[in-house]
Amino acid sequence: MTTKMRPLVAGNWKMNGTRECLTQIKAIAEGVKGPLSEKIEALLCPPSTLLYVSTALADDSPLAIGAQDCHQDRCGPHTGDISADMIADCFGTYVIVGHSERRTHHGETDQLVRAKAAAAHEADLTAIICVGETAEERADGRTLDVLNKEICASVPEGARAGRTVIAYEPVWAIGSGHTPTAADIEAAHAFMRARLVELFGAEGQKMRILYGGSANPTNARDLIRIPEVNGLLVGGASLKAADFLAIYGAYEQLPA
Ligand code: PGA
Repeated sequence: MTTKMRPLVAGNWKMNGTRECLTQIKAIAEGVKGPLSEKIEALLCPPSTLLYVSTALADDSPLAIGAQDCHQDRCGPHTGDISADMIADCFGTYVIVGHSERRTHHGETDQLVRAKAAAAHEADLTAIICVGETAEERADGRTLDVLNKEICASVPEGARAGRTVIAYEPVWAIGSGHTPTAADIEAAHAFMRARLVELFGAEGQKMRILYGGSANPTNARDLIRIPEVNGLLVGGASLKAADFLAIYGAYEQLPA
């Protein structure tokens, strides 16, 4: 059964974007105004240097602004980190945690990701918790095992659907131009839905599960039609307003 919920199209700018790119953020904030925003939520996660100015730019727009990571503590001696409270203080409403680039390059474990998601919840932010298998794990037929382990260990106990989004991002699909087949994405999302329901009951039924990894204006229409795909997490193709808006606009053509 496909769960009905308000899909989310989220852009992750990663370590890209300077003040020069504020024109793109402004264009996205303008572009998502309109009737579609009642049905589909739009979110942009710029680098933290642009967070405060981005929320100001999106002030009169349905575009939500979020961050790409947060520390698990509220404050303290953590040079270079930002806390969930700081994101909320900049009027951000979302934070991505456990992106595979953080898991791989910064050695983040499931336990740490769970602590970060809990810190986000504490600050009243919605946590987008990323999970996904590597190419090697996929080749070994361990995709569902990995998803099971990451969901069980990275999502905080008592997580609520209103403040928790899961993003399925196969590591090998990120930035590669390759995506899994629709059947593979469907199987992964159905599996995650079943696990979320087992773990969180009715809340697990309502949690949005995004697909991420080489989503673009060309494949978006097909990706959003896959059962249990409740939105997209978009990296490279979110940097240009026109591309992000084309992906968002793909929902116009989706039969209700
Ligand atoms: P990509 O990145 O769309 O550039 O593949 C997705 C992500 O890492 O969130």
